[in-house]
Amino acid sequence: MSVIEVQGIHKNFGENEILKGVSLSIEKGQVLVLLGPSGSGKSTLLRTLNGLETIDQGIILFNGRPLEQSEKAWQKVRPDIGMVFQSYDLFPNLTVLENILLGPLRVQKQKRETIEKEALILLERVGLKDKAKVYPRELSGGQKQRVAIVRALIMKPKLLLFDEVTASLDPEMVREVLLVIQDLAADGMTMFIVTHEMNFARQVADRIIFMDDGKILVEADSENFFNQIENSRVEKFLSSLAF
Ligand SMILES: Nc1ncnc2c1ncn2[C@@H]1O[C@H](COP(=O)(O)OP(=O)(O)OP(=O)(O)O)[C@@H](O)[C@H]1O
Ligand SMILES: [Mg+2]
Repeated sequence: MSVIEVQGIHKNFGENEILKGVSLSIEKGQVLVLLGPSGSGKSTLLRTLNGLETIDQGIILFNGRPLEQSEKAWQKVRPDIGMVFQSYDLFPNLTVLENILLGPLRVQKQKRETIEKEALILLERVGLKDKAKVYPRELSGGQKQRVAIVRALIMKPKLLLFDEVTASLDPEMVREVLLVIQDLAADGMTMFIVTHEMNFARQVADRIIFMDDGKILVEADSENFFNQIENSRVEKFLSSLAF
């Protein structure tokens, strides 16, 4: 069954139609990678999938149920849909651990002892066991991004959305973050990933969709996408990245 399915989504910003009838679905345990040129609507699409953007037309189904487009409905499902952005958005005045615990304590009203143990296990999993008590300013970009991933994981999401999470990292830190995402994929996490890292996309994706100008132009499994590039628009995009 699909964790998330969208049918014919349209999104306008003022006069501009940014999403022009997008449909897709992601099965449980699947990794879907979204590629496309700048401005094609990738972030907008991702943001509609956890209610950060409203839609003007179309349906979003989560676990098979159509979602009403109201803030109240989104508040219920949002803890199930984690999102990690390019900017880590950690609170500078809170330690790593407190940043991670914020959601579970405030939103889910969980017991501190239980959730603290879980947070430490997750930090260990991403190689940051010794950083629980430090402040974000003492971390590298790659470490901050791994904390942001833990902050999403602690909510036990059914779906994780990643929007170019390595785009602002120095090359040597990109790998450590991508390895964490690969580890999650191997563990069966359902994920929707926007990235410009083509080798990573090829390795981690079950399926790849290519979007241009608010529409999905190509949808293929990972190998087919890279091996049979008949679509000149895709070819141009890939050669512009020169990977
Ligand atoms: N809040 C907004 N108000 C008005 N226009 C917006 C808004 N957010 C995005 N847009 C416009 O929507 C289009 C798609 O933007 P979006 O950020 O989704 O693209 P993207 O594919 O993620 O690009 P990039 O690869 O650069 O991140 C752009 O033309 C952008 O200017
Ligand atoms: Mg974007």
